[in-house]
Amino acid sequence: FELPIIAPSILAADFSKLGEQIEECNAAGVRWIHCDIMDGHFVPNISYGPSIVEDANHCTDAFLDVHLMIENPDQYIEAFVDAGADQITVHQEACPHLHRTIQNIHQYGITAGVAINPGTSLQSITPVLNELDLVLVMSVNPGFGGQSFIPATLQRLQDLRNMRKEKGAGFLIEVDGGVKPDNITNITHSGADVLVAGSAVFKAQNIAERIKRLNEKAQK
Ligand code: DX5
Ligand code: ZN
Repeated sequence: FELPIIAPSILAADFSKLGEQIEECNAAGVRWIHCDIMDGHFVPNISYGPSIVEDANHCTDAFLDVHLMIENPDQYIEAFVDAGADQITVHQEACPHLHRTIQNIHQYGITAGVAINPGTSLQSITPVLNELDLVLVMSVNPGFGGQSFIPATLQRLQDLRNMRKEKGAGFLIEVDGGVKPDNITNITHSGADVLVAGSAVFKAQNIAERIKRLNEKAQK
């Protein structure tokens, strides 16, 4: 993938016209779609399940980047792979056997990511950095779209980029939460390769126009 990547999160979409809005993303040249799965236990909100991911998969050729904000994610890997997930990201905080979980995801021939919440140390995932295809650095406390970007995230991105260099690792760095046209340039300069944007994209007057603007500002 040519970097940086804008990954619209359909959590913020109008589900009464999800297909249309995904088509608008396709027309805007979107290459990743971010699917936020929430179970009401790991995070205080419930979003949607594999059937919506399957429906989205029928509307786009984009890479389906599935973000599991759920407890016991191992139990759902197969269901999301069957639904069309191209990547599954689990939360470090939800995985007592994280190394095994990453292996479980890779067994299906898809890429594996680990997400860390704003209160979780980067050190908690150093043992698995060389196994990972992606690290998702949460820039909001997970559960809802439309929150403000946590500024301390910028330093964490720089630290993670340094760790990747030191280890000679190849994972992508993804940021998720509060990404807007006015902060996206700083975020990519701090090391983000993939930028999730929910409300910035789907609450905009013109989705395609907003995606174009985010892409321009991410390239600066
Ligand atoms: C929050 C989700 C984010 C969220 C991003 O728990 O993981 O992907 O949907 O939404 P915005 O871009 O509106 O902060
Ligand atoms: Zn997400």
